[in-house]
Amino acid sequence: MHAVKQQMVMALIGAMVMLVSSVCFGSGIPDRITINSIQQYYAGVDFNHASHINNLKDCGLCHHHTTGAQITDPNCVRCHKNSGAQAVVSCKGCHSPTPFSPEELKLQRDQHPPIYHMDKVGLKAAYHLGCVGCHKKMGAPTGCQDCHKRNENGDGIFHSGKYAPKAPAKQKTSHH
Ligand code: HEC
Ligand code: HEC
Ligand code: HEC
Ligand code: HEC
Ligand code: HEC
Repeated sequence: MHAVKQQMVMALIGAMVMLVSSVCFGSGIPDRITINSIQQYYAGVDFNHASHINNLKDCGLCHHHTTGAQITDPNCVRCHKNSGAQAVVSCKGCHSPTPFSPEELKLQRDQHPPIYHMDKVGLKAAYHLGCVGCHKKMGAPTGCQDCHKRNENGDGIFHSGKYAPKAPAKQKTSHH
């Protein structure tokens, strides 16, 4: 009798956990994410979400007070010690790819109530500060092409690949 009751309780808890995570995260937590909304000089990033979660355990290291994790960054804790979880989870849902465009500035100006963090970093900076900052600390890859391959546009702008300057012609020695 006790064992059955226990099983039912476990099943109930399991169902509740599944319900909570499906409510919070919609279709669940993706294992791999292609991060490619601003690609221009580099191809998108094939981000292994699952392996990062396994290695790091703490969602809040990347998702500041959005996944139920309480914020721990000492700078943010000054004001957000008791802040609840935010509904938007993806970085690109809050960090604009064009933070200084006229449209973005107008949107922020006209928002009611006004957005407190109007000056928050743009999307590229959010990814780079977030990803590369931790990689430096933990000795993970930091080479530009470790995360994203440079594409044809990038080769053009950085004068590399087939756009690399030809080896300089042998200098003529001048006779005076
Ligand atoms: C730890 C991973 C990581 C490293 C290392 C990294 N980046 Fe990025 N970078 C990203 C992510 C993620 C994006 C966002 C990609 C997107 O949404 O299209 C991005 C976007 C960019 C963009 C804007 C999009 C584009 O294609 O033009 C540029 C430029 C860029 N990175 C340059 C660099 C350079 C230069 C380096 C080396 C000094 C570097 N990155 C190192 C992760 C990284
Ligand atoms: C190493 C950093 C990192 C960790 C740790 C991490 N995530 Fe993420 N997660 C990301 C990035 C980056 C994205 C893609 C964001 C974007 O598209 O701008 C993402 C996307 C998501 C999404 C999809 C959001 C959407 O609207 O598309 C969910 C859900 C999510 N993460 C939940 C979690 C949960 C739950 C944990 C902890 C168990 C976790 N993540 C741990 C970096 C991380
Ligand atoms: C000086 C006080 C202060 C500091 C420091 C601070 N915040 Fe805030 N933050 C606020 C206030 C005030 C609001 C608006 C009211 C609210 O939503 O709680 C806010 C709102 C937010 C929101 C809601 C959505 C949005 O875009 O406005 C997020 C997310 C957030 N803060 C993240 C952070 C993070 C991450 C840090 C640290 C890097 C941080 N905050 C540091 C005061 C602060
Ligand atoms: C709910 C909105 C929201 C989401 C989602 C969000 N951020 Fe932020 N983020 C903020 C706000 C607001 C600030 C500005 C806090 C401040 O200026 O003090 C901030 C600041 C930052 C900073 C600068 C921190 C510092 O010390 O100045 C980085 C880096 C960052 N976010 C990365 C990310 C990454 C990576 C993701 C996705 C995994 C993400 N953010 C998702 C709202 C969000
Ligand atoms: C809080 C720390 C932390 C953050 C934030 C973080 N990483 Fe990592 N990342 C690691 C560690 C640690 C490893 C090395 C894991 C290993 O060697 O198995 C790693 C490995 C990687 C690798 C190489 C192996 C693999 O899993 O494919 C890539 C690519 C990568 N990260 C991309 C990213 C991108 C893109 C972001 C931002 C969206 C990011 N990381 C954010 C800690 C972090």
